[in-house]
Amino acid sequence: MESDGKQITFHLLLAVGTAAIGSLQFGYNAGVINAPQKVIEMFLNETWAERYGEQIPKTTLTAMFSVAVAIFSIGGIIGSFSVGLFLNRFGRRNSMFMANVLAFVSATLMGFSKMGGSWEMLIIGRFVVGLYSGLSTGFVPIYVGEVSPTALRGALGTLHQLGIVIGILMAQVFGIDALLGNSSLWPLLLGFTFIPALAQCILLPFCPESPRFLLINRNEEHKAKSVLKKLRGTSEVSADMQEMKDEARQMMREKKVTIAELFRSPLYRQPILIAIMLQLSQQLSGINAIFYYSTRIFEKAGVAQPVYATIGTGVVNTAFTVVSLFVVERAGRRSLHLLGLLGMAGAAVLMTIALALLEKVPQMSYVSIVAVFAFVAFFEMGPGPIPWFIVAELFSQGPRPAAFAVSGFSNWTANFIVGMTFQYVEDVCGPYVFVIFIIMLLGFFVFTFFKVPETKGRTFDDISAGFRQSGDPGGVKHLPEELNSLGADSQL
Ligand code: GLC
Repeated sequence: MESDGKQITFHLLLAVGTAAIGSLQFGYNAGVINAPQKVIEMFLNETWAERYGEQIPKTTLTAMFSVAVAIFSIGGIIGSFSVGLFLNRFGRRNSMFMANVLAFVSATLMGFSKMGGSWEMLIIGRFVVGLYSGLSTGFVPIYVGEVSPTALRGALGTLHQLGIVIGILMAQVFGIDALLGNSSLWPLLLGFTFIPALAQCILLPFCPESPRFLLINRNEEHKAKSVLKKLRGTSEVSADMQEMKDEARQMMREKKVTIAELFRSPLYRQPILIAIMLQLSQQLSGINAIFYYSTRIFEKAGVAQPVYATIGTGVVNTAFTVVSLFVVERAGRRSLHLLGLLGMAGAAVLMTIALALLEKVPQMSYVSIVAVFAFVAFFEMGPGPIPWFIVAELFSQGPRPAAFAVSGFSNWTANFIVGMTFQYVEDVCGPYVFVIFIIMLLGFFVFTFFKVPETKGRTFDDISAGFRQSGDPGGVKHLPEELNSLGADSQL
């Protein structure tokens, strides 16, 4: 097993582990502002009173807090769309290094906003850390995909999601009142971002640049080879080198791929559609309705200690990401994504029943907890981790940065829309709000079934060759083969 490309070396672990600190920052900052909502609102009120000598109007307070929450996603949308500006110019590793400037700036702004009596610092800090997080959702999966051996690309690709979920969990735990989520310590809670940024800056210089970047983009064969030897822990890297050279040759034939080109060229139209749809399936599954509003959902469902149920969600979330990490190379991306979507739809049905019957049957509050946990567990089996790393697999070196810009943009925009509208839609639909997500989930299931190819165990070049050959837009030619592998996999 060790010699068939599944060797995990120290250098490989260091590289992917250090990169995943960027993912942790994203998760942490996505989750950090919810628990201390009340104490941050108190700060906004006090600052307002100091400046204007009166209490802050209720609507202004709600609007200001919503801006502080949502501006993070606006930063994310802009950051994720900008990955292409950095990756080829500075390289993968240096891009990650440079992005930390944003993390330091935002930690300083947010950490000192209370001392400076300035909500502007808080809001700008949230925007800046959103920019950082948006960049990370491109930089990390690309770097990890490019340093990993083919046989481990899915498992290591899942580390991006693992970083995110650990970040969310840390934010949930640190954010409880008894730790940092209180009126004196919340600036520390937000300023904490400084520590992972520092750790990443210390570790990145010990990590190698992506060998694919060195060879394919920079034509530095010698360096690429020595990096590969370290990453693979063997001096026999000719197969890997050959595969990259084939890809480089293929890339010479293609012009530089711009974002417009992705949609114009018949070569890329199919994979970009798949990449966008997978990202949308992740966000429009409704997962962040849970992560942003679970405490409120649990409260309405009559759960006695909603905050602890929320932390339970974070624990289940992390545990099942680990499960996915171990099965993704055996079961395959396509089958796990399908299983996840269907399971989430089932859990959402259960949740709807529980919420609808709550008034008559009080025990339904327990059922709602089980349903939320199942929803999250199925999410992490496939729809959580897979969309992030499969984009790197669907595209070869040339179009990869542009493809990440487009798919990351789709993900963050959908995230923003769900975050902004969920509470309003819930007011209108009541206990039936998750029916919307059930319909979406089933739609994405059908799309995945018919359009998404299996990428497990295939080289980047082979995967894009698959799209080149299947003249039919659906790649339907591959379907019987994929179904076979689905059947074979399920026996594992
Ligand atoms: C994914 C999503 C993110 C979500 C998280 C939950 O990484 O992109 O929006 O909050 O999973 O675990």
